[in-house]
Amino acid sequence: MCGIMGYIGDRPAAPILLDGLARLEYRGYDSAGVAVAHNGTVAVRKAAGKLARLREMLEREPLPGTVGIGHTRWATHGQPTDTNAHPHTDESGRFVVIHNGIIENFLPLREELAARGHRLRSDTDTEVLAHLIEEEYRGDIVEATRRAVSRAAGAYALVVLCAHEPGRIVAVRMISPLVVGFGEGEMLLASDIPALLPHTRDVLVVEDGELVVLTRDAVRVETLEGRPVARQRLHVTWTAEQAERGGFPHFMLKEIYEQPRALQETLMGRLDGPDSVTLEGVHLDAAFARSLEKVWITACGTAYHAGLVGRYLFERVLRVATEADYAHELRYRDPLVEPGHLVVAISQSGETADTLAAARLCRSRGARVLAVTNVVGSTLSREADDVLYTRAGPEIAVASTKAYLTMLVGQVLLTLHLARLRGALAAEATRHLVEELTLLPRKVQEVLNHPAPVEALAREIACCEHVYFIGRGLDYAVAMEGSLKLKEISYIHSEAMPAGELKHGTLALVTPGTPVVVVLTQRHVYEKTISGLQEVKARGARVIAVAYEDDPEIEKHADRVLRVPRTHDFLSPVVSMVPLQLLAYWVARERGHDIDQPRNLAKSVTVE
Ligand code: G6P
Repeated sequence: MCGIMGYIGDRPAAPILLDGLARLEYRGYDSAGVAVAHNGTVAVRKAAGKLARLREMLEREPLPGTVGIGHTRWATHGQPTDTNAHPHTDESGRFVVIHNGIIENFLPLREELAARGHRLRSDTDTEVLAHLIEEEYRGDIVEATRRAVSRAAGAYALVVLCAHEPGRIVAVRMISPLVVGFGEGEMLLASDIPALLPHTRDVLVVEDGELVVLTRDAVRVETLEGRPVARQRLHVTWTAEQAERGGFPHFMLKEIYEQPRALQETLMGRLDGPDSVTLEGVHLDAAFARSLEKVWITACGTAYHAGLVGRYLFERVLRVATEADYAHELRYRDPLVEPGHLVVAISQSGETADTLAAARLCRSRGARVLAVTNVVGSTLSREADDVLYTRAGPEIAVASTKAYLTMLVGQVLLTLHLARLRGALAAEATRHLVEELTLLPRKVQEVLNHPAPVEALAREIACCEHVYFIGRGLDYAVAMEGSLKLKEISYIHSEAMPAGELKHGTLALVTPGTPVVVVLTQRHVYEKTISGLQEVKARGARVIAVAYEDDPEIEKHADRVLRVPRTHDFLSPVVSMVPLQLLAYWVARERGHDIDQPRNLAKSVTVE
């Protein structure tokens, strides 16, 4: 995710762009930049770091002009540096672009452009667009943009400013959001409505595959093929704060609903075909993969729970002994980490002190450290040998949701990659897994489309004092995360354990009416889990099952069933976790808590 802002009118553009970017900083904040057209040229100012750096730069070197574009970045390709910050230009500086999203085929495009003599300066996928537009320009920036984007694949929003045609701003939406704002004798453009609200409440939401041309007092909307589109403007009644959350009452709910999109981004450009996975920052080779004898997964909190899923996948698919350990435990237990071992350190922020310390320790013992992280340029990503970015976009709510799901899918990609290098998975099995992987965004969306049963259940259990979560194998990993979600925002005491472990102690706490959530997707242990479920039912527990939608048995055993679409058993955590996220959210809401900032917790724990 990144934030995009555009202005064309009679007022000085730079302060309007800066104000808009400040309102869009929740979409990304690792670097920022603006470009303003003036006297036949377009001048660019950009800087890595928070918006404040750009603001200072503009105070020192102001940009006059009343037409401009601005960007606040959440890096996906290339570290957050001054050079990689947007806007990007062609070599002449006449064609200026900002962009949100991913250009999937940027590598072949870069090579083509380089072969034709273009010199690209940044590591971004964005810069290729400025060069393509320059190549395609024959006096009409709209046509040049149209032709350039026809060569780009991916999901993105793009905004273009041309020094030769300062009277218009061109933008294209291909999945990533873009909204036009109507002012008095001025027009605006932004990734999201909050940035527009100080200027106007009349907006037009650009749809996928549309191109818009903004002039001072009008907007023209057309398809990418050039057919005009008639579109009604909308009048927005949200406050700026509501709008920042996309109309959702809390960031957590917004982030839960962003998951299908986030998963698409995690997968984008990484599955070249049924048996080829491309992971841009991962440089493991076949020799390393084949001789691999041990994998250590280390993390904290939700990332650790994602690691429990990874452990299972690595062992089952790669047949490599794998341990998953809390980073704060691993670092102090003198682990038997050796050269040739792979350490997978998982961290949304890439800044968790314990995870960094554990990764450093393992690296100092000669292991190869692979980071799975959401933040490009984070400490973990810089210190690791290999990096797999999850591409969830900024996560604001303390309770992690979309970061978790993308960590799961990231680890599935890693498993597939290593499996190919090791020759560990038959072609047919790979194809099946890949096929199901690509269906996950849609299946998660299906769960999100039917929240009513979860909301009803939340009302039932909101007054309970204890809730238990059980499951076996991957279902146990999900039970752990489901329990954490519930306790961290609802403040209800909850515990998760393997379904087979309940009878060894915790069963003593189950009394009539105690909610026990059982996650039940794994075919090979299904009957075993049902037995555990019977044990709690016999003690009067209120059994809540998360099960596949076509499970014919489960109604007989459970009081409430939350259904999820069937998928490959290895991928089930991605769908089965979603109703549990919603459950935690709705219980916390029922209890009237501060959902986005639960008491005593922090998003990122950078102290030991
Ligand atoms: C904190 C957050 C958790 C998070 C954990 C690890 O405790 O509240 O939501 O899972 O840190 O964070 P990381 O950024 O390393 O994934």
